[in-house]
Amino acid sequence: MLLKDSVIGVIGCGAMGLGIAQVASTFGHSVIILDNNASAIQKAQQNLKAGLDKLVAKQKINENKAKEILNNISFTQEINELTVCVLVIEAVVENLEVKKKIFSQLESITKETCILASNTSSLAITAIAASCRKPERVIGIHFFNPATLMPLVEVIPGIASDDSHVQICKELISGWKKVCVQVKDTPGFIVNRVARPFYSEALRIYDEGIADLADIDRAMKEIGGFKMGPFELMDMIGHDVNYVVTETVWSQFYFDPKFKPSLTQKRLMEAGFFGRKSGKGFYNYNNDFELPASKISKNEASKIFIRILCMLINEAADTLYLKIASREDIDLAMTKGVNYPKGLLKWADEIGIQQVVNQLNELRDYYEEDRYRVCPLLKKMLAANQTFW
Ligand code: NAI
Repeated sequence: MLLKDSVIGVIGCGAMGLGIAQVASTFGHSVIILDNNASAIQKAQQNLKAGLDKLVAKQKINENKAKEILNNISFTQEINELTVCVLVIEAVVENLEVKKKIFSQLESITKETCILASNTSSLAITAIAASCRKPERVIGIHFFNPATLMPLVEVIPGIASDDSHVQICKELISGWKKVCVQVKDTPGFIVNRVARPFYSEALRIYDEGIADLADIDRAMKEIGGFKMGPFELMDMIGHDVNYVVTETVWSQFYFDPKFKPSLTQKRLMEAGFFGRKSGKGFYNYNNDFELPASKISKNEASKIFIRILCMLINEAADTLYLKIASREDIDLAMTKGVNYPKGLLKWADEIGIQQVVNQLNELRDYYEEDRYRVCPLLKKMLAANQTFW
């Protein structure tokens, strides 16, 4: 493998940068983390040590391994130290201008063969790459939080990215025991796009008074087999994060009504009711939280589950139809990136494309909204009696 044992650079030692550094170091790389904030570095060093101590206490790794991981990682505020790297992964604040400045500096101090990657979750890789004289060196490598635990990594070539870099990065990161999927440089990539209806259709059902929060959460968990319901999950992610992702995807898709955010969630964000981290979101987390019992019949719960599932399948189908990613990668992304119980395209085959199309047509007829338009691929497949798998 081309990059094995080589030095990896990481920029930004926040939640993501530190996690990515720990993963690379675990697999034997020397890692240099650059951050422009001395107190952030100090905090990251403490977090790293504390995290490794926990792993040792839980007997996930032994003391020697913990020492090795720790010794492999060095911190700096000096960008010139990154000249030895063969790959640099940037994970600083989500701000295009800040990232562009960093990439343009990186390009001038690193070797021409060094691959320059961004962990951005919502900016276009192509826009970041435009700051470089050689945009072919730039690629997206999107880890999920926490990077040490989540198996999925989305690899995103910008329109100018060198194909060989895509292959090198996929090979390298697969070697870190991660599951790599490849995705076109489009808003939300796979996961943050395809997962939108899980939240937005649940919010729509709630906003219309069709069911209460816990009724919807329980429907998705008990009938759908999801680990968490949409409201529990939004409360865990935090509305400051989840709402902003929704709004960003919506605006980047030129305000397509499929992605329209909910005012209910916006108000939570504005109030500072971010969810679990602030003690209050959709639910109250003051005491030991327990999801309330459902007040609706099994039949009503099934209808809610099918409605949300069909919206998710429609988005997964659109992602395939528009060649954003392959069938395999779309299903892998949702099971490995957000723990869905099944890949959505596989799920479509199981419940039947006819049912998906009928459900969407019913919603579209009733609401007369473009939000519920059926993906053309589903129509084509239905006419030809095809399945995804
Ligand atoms: P964070 O806010 O925890 O950490 C960012 C770090 O970058 C801070 O330590 C800050 O001091 C440093 N920094 C800011 N400007 C800098 C500069 N000019 N030079 C050097 N260091 C600088 O952020 P987080 O959550 O780790 O996110 C980082 C990136 O990863 C963002 O692009 C975000 O969209 C992406 N991402 C975040 C995920 C998450 O769940 N937090 C998941 C996947 C991607």
